[in-house]
Amino acid sequence: MSNANGLEDVIAAETVLSDVDGLGGRLIIRGVSLDELIDGGRYEDVVALLLEGQFADLPEGAELQAALGAARVAVYAHLQQAGTSVADLPLFDGMRALTARLPDDLSLSSALQLIAAPAVFTTGILRLKTGQAPVKPDASLSHAADILRMHQGKPPHPQQVAALDRYLLTVTDHGLNASTFTARVVASTAAGLTSSALAALGALKGPLHGGAPGPVLDMLDAIGTPSEAEPWLEGALARGDRLMGFGHRIYRVRDPRADALKGALRGLAREGAIDPARLSLAESVEAAALVLLARAKPDRALETNVEFYTALLLEALGFPREAFTCVFAMGRTTGWIAHAMEQAATGRLIRPRARYVGPMPKKVA
Ligand code: SDX
Repeated sequence: MSNANGLEDVIAAETVLSDVDGLGGRLIIRGVSLDELIDGGRYEDVVALLLEGQFADLPEGAELQAALGAARVAVYAHLQQAGTSVADLPLFDGMRALTARLPDDLSLSSALQLIAAPAVFTTGILRLKTGQAPVKPDASLSHAADILRMHQGKPPHPQQVAALDRYLLTVTDHGLNASTFTARVVASTAAGLTSSALAALGALKGPLHGGAPGPVLDMLDAIGTPSEAEPWLEGALARGDRLMGFGHRIYRVRDPRADALKGALRGLAREGAIDPARLSLAESVEAAALVLLARAKPDRALETNVEFYTALLLEALGFPREAFTCVFAMGRTTGWIAHAMEQAATGRLIRPRARYVGPMPKKVA
C-alpha cells in the first residue's frame, strides 16, 4: 500500500517527457540522458526536445533561438508598463506578479513568453531594486547569454554562458516534482499555460522544493570553515533541522545533477570565476553532512541533491541568493509547459480521492 501522505510511490500520470530513476541515479529527458544533454548543449536544445510535437508551429534550430529572443523582447514591454512599483515586492513575488500579465492560452507565443518571463522579469526587477534601469533584451543572443547580459549589463564571459546553459538544461524537467505536478493539475482543468505556470511558481517557492539553494549558502556562511562543518551540522541535526541540499523523494543515490553542476563549477574555477576556498568549503560540508546523515537516518538514503551545488554555481554567476529560485524557474518553466500541454491533450481532469478521517454528524440522516 503506498503512503498516501505526499503521494509517495503513486503513479499519477504517464509521460514521454522525463524519467527519474531514483535507484540508478539517472535522469532521461525524452530518451536523452542528462550526460548527453549537457555535453555542449544549450538551453534552446532542450526547449526543442521537450516541446517537440506539442505546437504545430514550433520553429527549429536558429529560428527557435530567434523566436525565444523575440519573446524576451515582447515580455520586456510588460516590465516597462509595470513601472518601478514591482520592485517594492520581494523578487520572486514581483516576477510572479508580472507573469500574471501574460496571455492565458495554449498558444506557442504564450509558451515562449512564459519561458522568457522569469529571465526578463528577474533580471529587470533586480536592477530596479538596485536603482539601475533594466537592460532591454537582445533577441539575437542565446537565452543564457542574454540572461547574463540583462543581469550584468555587459556581454558575459563564454564560460559563464556555458555554466548557465548547463544549469538551465540540468533543471528543466524532472518527472512529477511538486511544481510540475501542480502545473499538470491546473492544465487538467483546461486552464491556460499561464495559469499552470503561476500555480507551479507557487509550489516552486517552498524551501522543501525550489527554495532550498539560498539556505544552502546561509548554511555555508554559518559554518565558515571546514573544521567547523561537523560540529555545526551535528547541532543542526540535533535540533531536528533539515540540511538544505540533501535528501530527495525519489533519489536513493546521489542526484546525477549534483555532479553535472560540479562540472560547471570546475569550469568556472579554471577561469578563476569562483573562489577555490568556497568550493573546498562546500566539498568539506558535503562530505561531513553525508556521514552525519547516514548516522542519523541509517534507514533512509539521504544524498546530495541538485540544490547543493546549484547554490555555489548561481553565486559564482553573480546572482544574489534571493534570485536563486527565480533562476530555477528560468529553467523549469519549459518542463511545466511541456507537462501542461501533455496533460491538456488527455482531456482528463486530475481528481484523486481522500480518506475521510473526520468526525461524523451526531444524527446520521
Ligand atoms: C528539489 O521532486 C523533485 O524532483 C524535486 C527536485 C526537482 O528537480 O524538482 O529535485 C528539486 O526539490 C530538491 C530538494 C530540495 N529541498 C531540499 O534540499 C530541502 C531538504 N530536503 C528535505 O526536506 C527532503 O529531503 C525532501 C523534502 C527533499 C524529501 O523529503 P521526503 O521524501 O518527504 O522524505 P521525508 O521528509 O519523509 O524524510 C525521511 C526522513 C525523515 O526523518 P524521520 O522523520 O523519518 O525521522 O529523512 C529525514 C526526515 O526528517 N530527512 C532529512 C532530510 N531530508 C529528509 N533530515 C535532515 N536533512 C534532510 N535534508
